[in-house]
Amino acid sequence: MGPASIVPDMVNTVETGVEGLDSILNGGLVENATVLVSGNPGTGKSLFGIQYLHHGVTEHDERGIYISFEENEDDIREAAESIGFENWGDLVDDGEIKVYDKSHMLREGDFTSTMDTLLEDFANASYDRLVLDSLTMFELFFDDEKEKRTYLLKFSDILKKNGLTSLLVNEQGAVFPETEIGLENFLTDGNIYFIQTPTDSGVNRYVWVAKMRKQDIDTDIFPMEIANGGIKVYERAGGFSMMGREAPGDGF
Ligand SMILES: Nc1ncnc2c1ncn2[C@@H]1O[C@H](COP(=O)(O)OP(=O)(O)OP(=O)(O)O)[C@@H](O)[C@H]1O
Ligand SMILES: [Mg+2]
Repeated sequence: MGPASIVPDMVNTVETGVEGLDSILNGGLVENATVLVSGNPGTGKSLFGIQYLHHGVTEHDERGIYISFEENEDDIREAAESIGFENWGDLVDDGEIKVYDKSHMLREGDFTSTMDTLLEDFANASYDRLVLDSLTMFELFFDDEKEKRTYLLKFSDILKKNGLTSLLVNEQGAVFPETEIGLENFLTDGNIYFIQTPTDSGVNRYVWVAKMRKQDIDTDIFPMEIANGGIKVYERAGGFSMMGREAPGDGF
């Protein structure tokens, strides 16, 4: 086997379904990667996960699994419908998208057996895409750093072995970028940040792909928008660097 890093065109990619982002990523996420999706509240992390799974089923016939500690099945469906994915509920009913919502995940004192059920499902059913919303909540079930780190490595291994390409949602409390770089950032294959800045009329939204192992990516920051049809990233508007430049004002 040759070194994969010098033959980037040999890497299989998985489209996220977000216009512009897939082109920044040279086609999409690296197949079987575990990708961290970070951002403050309301930046679009969950919607990105929904769009990723919806695109997988509708465009590539790839089944998805959505694990949520934050919301119940109805909330998730309503969020999907709010960006125009009216058939989300049908896809869930048909088993194309499997949802483990907070009522499953937070069953009283039963985290270990919940995880066992999940891992069994990964192994027995053929899913291609997974969203964990959120990793931040998931990590609260571990008592110390070492246990957490060990499990996270094991978990991401299991995801890969089962052929899954995964998004792990990371809730950021602090205002970007004044935040500590957590362990998760180093343990995952890729790192995507969603950023929002307030304006007079609302918010400006941006996306930054900080890391994608095995991929030659554009690490500028690009403007994005959440609207009917989902998240759109404006690649051609020209990115700007985080370093030594002002964030653009209105006008995107
Ligand atoms: N149809 C739409 N058009 C424009 N904006 C929308 C639409 N639907 C949802 N939004 C916006 O998307 C944002 C919510 O995105 P999302 O729930 O994915 O955020 P999040 O990063 O998961 O937040 P949290 O950390 O609180 O879970 C809100 O700011 C909401 O106003
Ligand atoms: Mg969310």
